[in-house]
Amino acid sequence: MSLSDIRRVLISDSLAPACAQILRTQGGIEVTESPGLTHQQLLSQIQDYDGLIVRSATKVTAEVLTAGSRLKLVGRAGTGVDNVDVECATKNGIIVMNTPTGNSISAAELTCGLVLSLSRQIPQAAESMRAGKWDRKKFMGSELYGKTIGILGLGRIGKEVAIRMQSFQMRTIGYDPIIPAEVTAQFGVQQFPLEEIWEQCDYITVHTPLLPSTTGLINDAAFSKCKQGVKVINCARGGIIDEAALLRALQSGQCGGAGLDVFIEEPPRERALVEHPLVISLPHLGASTEEAQNRCGEEIAQQIVDLVKDRALVGA
Ligand code: NAD
Ligand code: MLT
Repeated sequence: MSLSDIRRVLISDSLAPACAQILRTQGGIEVTESPGLTHQQLLSQIQDYDGLIVRSATKVTAEVLTAGSRLKLVGRAGTGVDNVDVECATKNGIIVMNTPTGNSISAAELTCGLVLSLSRQIPQAAESMRAGKWDRKKFMGSELYGKTIGILGLGRIGKEVAIRMQSFQMRTIGYDPIIPAEVTAQFGVQQFPLEEIWEQCDYITVHTPLLPSTTGLINDAAFSKCKQGVKVINCARGGIIDEAALLRALQSGQCGGAGLDVFIEEPPRERALVEHPLVISLPHLGASTEEAQNRCGEEIAQQIVDLVKDRALVGA
């Protein structure tokens, strides 16, 4: 079978309707939409499909890839391919595609929302109003104006966060081992070695992939070098900020607040961070906008149609 023989595709997560529509109308592909399949159901059905499209809920494990005896491609409507065993897919000759740009703006906007929320404890204050209180003293905040935000990871999302936070007249500094300082200077981010970042920041936000080198990027040692009361944001991947170290830093007052969209385990069974009064936590909502979902759904469908029609290939 060649790649142009992709005739049947399974969509196993909730995706924008445009995805199936493009596959059917432009690619002549038969599409089954089954969001919320259990792992066992996926294992028993995957053998009938040439392609599988997922968001982040479906775990495309080696078991799934092996059971998919006619599988030729896995499409991830989103950025990170952490839920796909890419190594096993490659060994089995299965192409993995993603849509790395489709949700960058949404993730950046959510990050900025968390920075603002942390500066004024907006969700906590709203919650106290709902509880019938009028607690003006408790929710004294601080301005973003003139403060420094450190951005670790200056790729697609890090850049968009920087540009937006500059409109609050924040000083934007950062670190990225790949993107040259001359490039980030063009969008207003001065780079420093990591060791020089910590002590300068009032806020630190992480926008890297989760790699061995980024796991625990913000850990006990990093927190100890930060300004007391530093606020941290993670809208990238759970584990880039060491969760146990974050809890310790919150308890000691070294960290003054955290905005978390992502967790090591999702949903998190360990509740200490989620329940901490200085933590604003969200259920992985970075890409959850109509615009991002439409873009990612359309892009992944278009990429598959292009593949079927022997046009350009986009891989993860
Ligand atoms: P990107 O690839 O454009 O940028 C990531 C940057 O991190 C790169 O420039 C890379 O050089 C840099 N980097 C790698 N190792 C580093 C290190 N040790 N220190 C500092 N920088 C390092 O990725 P992106 O599209 O901007 O996505 C960033 C993260 O956001 C990814 O983890 C992605 O999965 C995640 N994401 C989350 C959501 C969400 O729903 N919360 C949505 C989209 C993306
Ligand atoms: C991503 O990697 O694109 C994000 O985590 C968002 C998602 O698809 O849920």
